[in-house]
Amino acid sequence: MSYPSRRTVLGGAIAATAVVAGGAVLSPASAAPARRPGQKSMVGVPFEAVDTVRVGVIGLGNRGMGMLGGWAAVPGCTVAAVCDIRAPRAKTAADRIAAAGKPRPAEYGGSSSSYQEMLSRENLDLVYIATPWEFHYAQGKAALLAGAHVGVELPIATELDELWDLVDTSERTRRHLWLMENCSYGRNELAMLKMAHEGVFGDVTNGHGGYLHDLRELLFSDTYYTDAWRRKWHTRSIASFYPMHGLAPIAAAMDINRGDRMLTLQATATAPRGLADYRERHVPRDHPSWQEEYINGDLITCMISTQQGRVIRAEHDVSSPRPYSRINSLAGSRGIMEDYVPVGAAGARVYLEPDHSGHSWRDFTSYRDEFDHWLWKTVGSQPNPGGHGGMDYILQWRVIQQMRAGLVPDIDVYDGAVWCSPVPLSVQSLDNGGRPVRVPDFTRGRWAHKRPGLDSRQSEMPPVA
Ligand SMILES: NC(=O)c1ccc[n+]([C@@H]2O[C@H](COP(=O)([O-])OP(=O)(O)OC[C@H]3O[C@@H](n4cnc5c(N)ncnc54)[C@H](O)[C@@H]3O)[C@@H](O)[C@H]2O)c1
Repeated sequence: MSYPSRRTVLGGAIAATAVVAGGAVLSPASAAPARRPGQKSMVGVPFEAVDTVRVGVIGLGNRGMGMLGGWAAVPGCTVAAVCDIRAPRAKTAADRIAAAGKPRPAEYGGSSSSYQEMLSRENLDLVYIATPWEFHYAQGKAALLAGAHVGVELPIATELDELWDLVDTSERTRRHLWLMENCSYGRNELAMLKMAHEGVFGDVTNGHGGYLHDLRELLFSDTYYTDAWRRKWHTRSIASFYPMHGLAPIAAAMDINRGDRMLTLQATATAPRGLADYRERHVPRDHPSWQEEYINGDLITCMISTQQGRVIRAEHDVSSPRPYSRINSLAGSRGIMEDYVPVGAAGARVYLEPDHSGHSWRDFTSYRDEFDHWLWKTVGSQPNPGGHGGMDYILQWRVIQQMRAGLVPDIDVYDGAVWCSPVPLSVQSLDNGGRPVRVPDFTRGRWAHKRPGLDSRQSEMPPVA
């Protein structure tokens, strides 16, 4: 197979202006705040190398507890401290680590400020945050100020000023904070990224991703999300709460922050029907959820334009009956890929010139094999304790080995901020009748510089002991 070179593709004739549908572009709060004296970019800044990475975990519910075994298993990583507002969960986590034959981590818990006690007492290299969304910003900022690098579950923050403050605090403390975006390490997603970079799609013009997951049963469960925190978000605002699992891989394939940037975002919302309908049919009348009114639209769609004239459609729906999908579709002048359609072993389909003709879809599997990322050929081919088909452990392994080797992180605070910006920007757009709003440039101009990201090379990485 012959493909145009990456240089040809990136230097191609894509229009440098964004296509913005429908009306004037609003620009609320999009201007970059001035940097304080001495504050500098974190673009391309390597971790300081450490032999053993000491991790502290905040939040030990479904996710935090699920990731615990991975942190304990990654070579060169020690779970030094665990914290949950519910002290028994910290004890359970510490018991599990000790039962796995590892040193027992220090336990913190019992109050909403226990994490601050952990941050002030422990000398941590990395803090991993897996609490409800409303705590991510304050806990992430506190961990940076305590001198740690910080990996935050989705989203890193939910307001624009908070996203900017995390960027600024990272720049001031010289510590990295990033989104623990595990799906960016998915096997199909990484192969799609390499194909985009090697020109298989020609000039990439558009992509679609999202988070389409029927969570209704879990949202109404009294034992899954602690204090029903996730359902309560649906009573507060009309927003794309969590599109990042599908948006981030598309943004990476388009080199957002690495040669392109998101320019505008325009949101639509359908009526809120799914949760109330589910409650009506499945939830007893004396359940506390009957006091709630669900206002978030079932399907929130964000149309995002980029500086290089590309378009991204990012969707979020967790309240409708449907099979799971992150969409993962990327298209350009030479072809298209669509994930989540069961064609072949890789579960995705392609149509790529010059290999294909005749207007019919083909199996993605041979392309996935040809463009398989080195992380999947090495770490991903070994048994591991992580969930989500192995990508959770690959993310944890990669983070820890980058810290040990003193490399630049694959995902930085600017990626985290722009990937999470649809949360507040969808609210702004919908508040303004669905008109487009500007996406801030969190890099303050560095987006135009080509630089590596998730598409790394194994050769840069020393052997892992
Ligand atoms: N990346 C993924 O694939 C993935 C999967 C699931 C969840 N998540 C994310 O993980 C996060 C947690 O989700 P979850 O499903 O585990 O929720 P959960 O309700 O099961 O767990 C949250 C935990 O945080 C604790 N907590 C709450 N406030 C705290 C505080 N102030 N200090 C310390 N602990 C506190 C709770 O006691 C609970 O144990 C969310 O951001 C969610 O979006 C990510």
